[in-house]
Amino acid sequence: MSRLVVISNRVAVPKARGVAGAQGGLAGALNAALKDRGGLWFGWSGQESEDRTGNMNLQRNDGVTTATIDLSHRDIDEYYNGYANSTLWPLFHYRIDLTEYENETGRGYERVNERFAESVMPLIEEDDVVWVHDYHLIPLGERLRARGAKNRIGFFLHIPWPPTRLLTSLPFHERLVKTMLDYDLIGFQTQEWLSSFVHYCENELGASVDHETGRIDHEGRTVLARAYPIGIDWEHFQGLGAGEEAKAAEERLLASTRNRTGMIGVDRLDYSKGLPERIDGIGRFYDQHPERTRDLIFIQIAPPSREDVESYQHIREVLEQKTGQINGARSEVDIVPIRYVNRGYSHAELFGFFRAAKIGLVTPLRDGMNLVAKEYVAAQDPEDPGVLILSEFAGAAHQLGANGEGALLVNPHSPDLLARAIAQALDMPLAERKSRYEAMIGTVRDDNVRWWTTEFCTDLAEG
Ligand code: F6P
Repeated sequence: MSRLVVISNRVAVPKARGVAGAQGGLAGALNAALKDRGGLWFGWSGQESEDRTGNMNLQRNDGVTTATIDLSHRDIDEYYNGYANSTLWPLFHYRIDLTEYENETGRGYERVNERFAESVMPLIEEDDVVWVHDYHLIPLGERLRARGAKNRIGFFLHIPWPPTRLLTSLPFHERLVKTMLDYDLIGFQTQEWLSSFVHYCENELGASVDHETGRIDHEGRTVLARAYPIGIDWEHFQGLGAGEEAKAAEERLLASTRNRTGMIGVDRLDYSKGLPERIDGIGRFYDQHPERTRDLIFIQIAPPSREDVESYQHIREVLEQKTGQINGARSEVDIVPIRYVNRGYSHAELFGFFRAAKIGLVTPLRDGMNLVAKEYVAAQDPEDPGVLILSEFAGAAHQLGANGEGALLVNPHSPDLLARAIAQALDMPLAERKSRYEAMIGTVRDDNVRWWTTEFCTDLAEG
């Protein structure tokens, strides 16, 4: 088997591993993918320095070598906070109202992609298979080709691909998408995002597409585009669930919620996660059922994220205000209906919290996949499972909410529909909870991160 070289913006270097939530699903998934095969993982250290000597930090752990570089203040500002997280992230999550279109940050994005190519190229050997990840590094394949890389190179997008009419609001959109044709294989989380990409290629680039195989031909270049829904590291997560830390966390939450039903949400503090809308739905539930304030307690874990980006600062204030209002109106001396926690917890603790909470609330306005939804299901007791309430706009809804079985699918924009789903989950009889759990657990267990890696890497190697 060829060596795998993974390139992503964020790298889970060994010393920083442990706290889940804040890092999103990507780093955990790639860690699992690499643990099995061994290989090299290259990316940004997360640190700022003005050192342009190309100094790289190399660490070896469990057969995986991580190689990271620092970025300068300007690079972080223009590439990470700028083009990646103030332009591509909001646009790809259908938020053109929050999207900033600045040529300067676009140039910074290209510069850092060039810097990544320059730094990683000497580490790539002839037979390596190279796998580039996410919206920070869309043009990296083209940059590697320009430096002579002849390897098989794949790209996986962890976030949605926007509809063509939204994407065309991006200046130089054609240039960006054309760079993707230098990959051999492009992966998306769902058929929905794949279809939007194919639509763009056919209608904006005039590419010819074979819809059966996913083969796209344009100006003498050929790329395969397919959907590969990412999964969780099932075995690792179950192992954590069997440990002391998870058990202690479960007991801690159960003890503190006593006879009330715990309902939990775990999300990076990001506007795409639909947190203010979620709180509105919970507020509506309490308004409609004031007598049930004693039955339900909501725990929202929301570690801060991308705090230097303006749109992320605003959401924090909004949430504090909304939770404060509900708690102010509905608290008693022995009851606080919403616990809003601004920090991350380890994966083992999250397992315990998920198992203790009888409702999981995952209601993004738009999400590439959402691994929290899958982890919530994975942590349930099969004999007494909780109910997953899931946004119909999360990629995970395709697998977990199919045919009205499995998760309760909701439109996260509607407080009334959210309130209704909460009431339905609270009153759901055990038999229905079990049958819904049964409808989800197979795909969560089997279509796991190992399956995802194997599927993608096999297609990449075989072409
Ligand atoms: O999964 C999507 C993603 O944007 C990843 O690319 C990223 O690592 C993660 O969310 C967390 O975001 P950040 O790296 O900006 O903290």
